[in-house]
Amino acid sequence: MDPSRRNLLKLLAGAPLLLTAGFAGEALMRFAKPSMKAGGIFDPADEPELAIPPLFSKEYFPEPWTCLPFMYTVKYKIFSPEKEEIRSIPAFIVRLNDDRIQAYSRECPRGRGCTLNFVKESIRNCGCGTSVKKCCCNIELNNPAFVCCCHKDVYDLANDGACVRGPSPRRPKKIEVFIDGEQITVGRMENLLV
Ligand code: FES
Repeated sequence: MDPSRRNLLKLLAGAPLLLTAGFAGEALMRFAKPSMKAGGIFDPADEPELAIPPLFSKEYFPEPWTCLPFMYTVKYKIFSPEKEEIRSIPAFIVRLNDDRIQAYSRECPRGRGCTLNFVKESIRNCGCGTSVKKCCCNIELNNPAFVCCCHKDVYDLANDGACVRGPSPRRPKKIEVFIDGEQITVGRMENLLV
């Protein structure tokens, strides 16, 4: 058989395979980046967006260690007919001892789906249900902290949220805070994954 004819036949035989690989690759890329347009393979990744920015006023924080819970609502782009999904993450916004306002995710950094509670009075009264004497939080801390409801890891709010009890790998995720006159709102949460 003429070699050029053989090559043409090879090409024709391989075409369905190439087409299938192309479609599969496109589907995979759209799963990874749902908003991708044709040719947009090198565009930046889809970032989660804050869906409903909560609004606070300075008067909500009359004294140091005032801590308010709120829901941090995020919009994710997803590969589905709806194109997006809204998820809510519990969070705290707190006025610190030095009057700075800081917001944190309430998700325990140990990543087991447990929630942090704000303990204002004394860390030895950690809310775990045992008496002070038997309390599992056997550390002394003279300022409020976050305490995980599951294994009682303690995060020191006067020390940038550092973990002072338990094997947690890091402090809770911080959320940007913006202050404009009397109004306070929040921005991005660090390490928020798509
Ligand atoms: S999951 Fe938070 S301390 Fe164990």
